[in-house]
Amino acid sequence: MNTEIVDLYNKIGGESYNKRGFTPVSFLIKKRLLSRSHLKEGDKVLVLFCGSGQDFTPILDVIGPTGEIVGVDFSRSMLDVAQKNIDEKGIKNITLVEDDVLKFEPEEYHNHFDAVFCSMGIALDDDSTRVFNRLSKFQNEKSQVIIFDLKYPDSGIGKLIYAYILEKITNHYGGNRTKHMASATLYHNLSSDENCLFSTQYLFGTFYSVILKNY
Ligand SMILES: C[S@@+](CC[C@H](N)C(=O)[O-])C[C@H]1O[C@@H](n2cnc3c(N)ncnc32)[C@H](O)[C@@H]1O
Repeated sequence: MNTEIVDLYNKIGGESYNKRGFTPVSFLIKKRLLSRSHLKEGDKVLVLFCGSGQDFTPILDVIGPTGEIVGVDFSRSMLDVAQKNIDEKGIKNITLVEDDVLKFEPEEYHNHFDAVFCSMGIALDDDSTRVFNRLSKFQNEKSQVIIFDLKYPDSGIGKLIYAYILEKITNHYGGNRTKHMASATLYHNLSSDENCLFSTQYLFGTFYSVILKNY
């Protein structure tokens, strides 16, 4: 377990995380990304790195009350805020699991999910590809993988934005340039893969999204 990241997110806490200026922007990006996917009412979605639960509303808007979400995160204080919001809204179809994504693999969830959703989590590991390779364990034959994350940009202007603005912000949330270079490699591999249904970059290549069919 990466105790540095666990401690960091326990310290940041879900309430403070939810107040970031980026929250409304990421909500819109997730809504748009999900509209490009094949996700539909009643689907079962595994949300890895779910944190304080910001991914749940845009997913619930698509899958509705008949769908199912299982959210996994290893920070207790992020999950506590997610649980509080779920309880306050009376939502019944979300289960939260406190675990390390790199270890989590309960038997009952093998081949269970219609989609695996990962927002702003894969690039927190030193080796994005190692994390990505675990996602196949949870998919059925028609599953999709939906990813939104940071990466080191290719373009000159992207590199300037990264160096002068994003690097400081992401350092605060456990990211760094080495991780984002690994994330860029993952993005380039995934976006050129034959299983890639959709890929895009934002803000001069400092963020990306991909949707893949079963992998
Ligand atoms: C930047 S937040 C993302 C939260 C949410 N997905 C979003 O887009 O707003 C990253 C979350 O990933 C969690 N995390 C990072 N590495 C993890 C791992 N290996 N296993 C479980 N959770 C992890 C952290 O605890 C944190 O809550």
